[in-house]
Amino acid sequence: MRSTVVETVTSVHHWNETLFSFKTTRKPSFTFENGQFVMIGLEVDGKPLLRAYSIASANYEDELEFFSIKVPNGALTSKLQHLTLGDSVMISTRPTGTLVAGHLTPGRNLYLLATGTGLAPFMGIIKDPDIYEQYEKIILVHGVRYASELAYQQAICEALPNNEYFGDLVRDKLIYYPSVTRESFRSPAHQQRITHLLADEVLSTELGLPPLCPSRDRFMLCGSQAMISDTMDILNSKGFAKATSRRQGDYVIEQAFLEK
Ligand code: A2P
Repeated sequence: MRSTVVETVTSVHHWNETLFSFKTTRKPSFTFENGQFVMIGLEVDGKPLLRAYSIASANYEDELEFFSIKVPNGALTSKLQHLTLGDSVMISTRPTGTLVAGHLTPGRNLYLLATGTGLAPFMGIIKDPDIYEQYEKIILVHGVRYASELAYQQAICEALPNNEYFGDLVRDKLIYYPSVTRESFRSPAHQQRITHLLADEVLSTELGLPPLCPSRDRFMLCGSQAMISDTMDILNSKGFAKATSRRQGDYVIEQAFLEK
């Protein structure tokens, strides 16, 4: 059986009717790389019920944070969404995953492309001071259906740029690009799927960055299976190479874990 530890819920935040985040205690012996995931869960009918969740906190923070959808009849999230302070959560002790900086060859611009709860691993990555040493620009694109799903805006746009240790690097290098596809939002360029933003160079044009190029740009993708597959087709057609378990590449992928 998978080895797990029990942690205690320290805070819960509901973003809207479909999304919530929660934090737990963290044992000092639990270490991970920013961008990795773990199995988390509850005991249901006397048995552990675990699902994969990306860690949304950075590896130097005292607590662990997770970002989840609420599936009304979901085996786990129908229970997880009712978590309150002091509740126990099971967490596997072996974090893993491909969305880690070391899987990419060196580049100048890092594009973090997320849909829905696929934002979670990137919240850890953008809190990593090392990433700002490695890249000139970090472009975080969050694609959602409705504006209420744009979670973590305060953390991205206010807390991080004011971080007392590396806020100056964040202000200089981090670009946040939200896109809302099913209601009016900002401008037409912020109402398109990530695939359209890339294929038609809308994103680079909007940001005043050069057209996407394998010699300069790196990508991390996290979203639904369809989003990843369609985005990969575009990157492949532009000459970008996917990293493998044995070889660094121009991009890495991870499916956001939706069957909850
Ligand atoms: P859309 O509203 O046009 O379907 P979901 O909640 O279904 O995962 O969607 C989150 C965001 O991802 C939405 O903006 C949605 O756009 C977009 N999306 C869904 N499928 C794809 C895809 N195959 N490629 C790119 N974006 C997608």
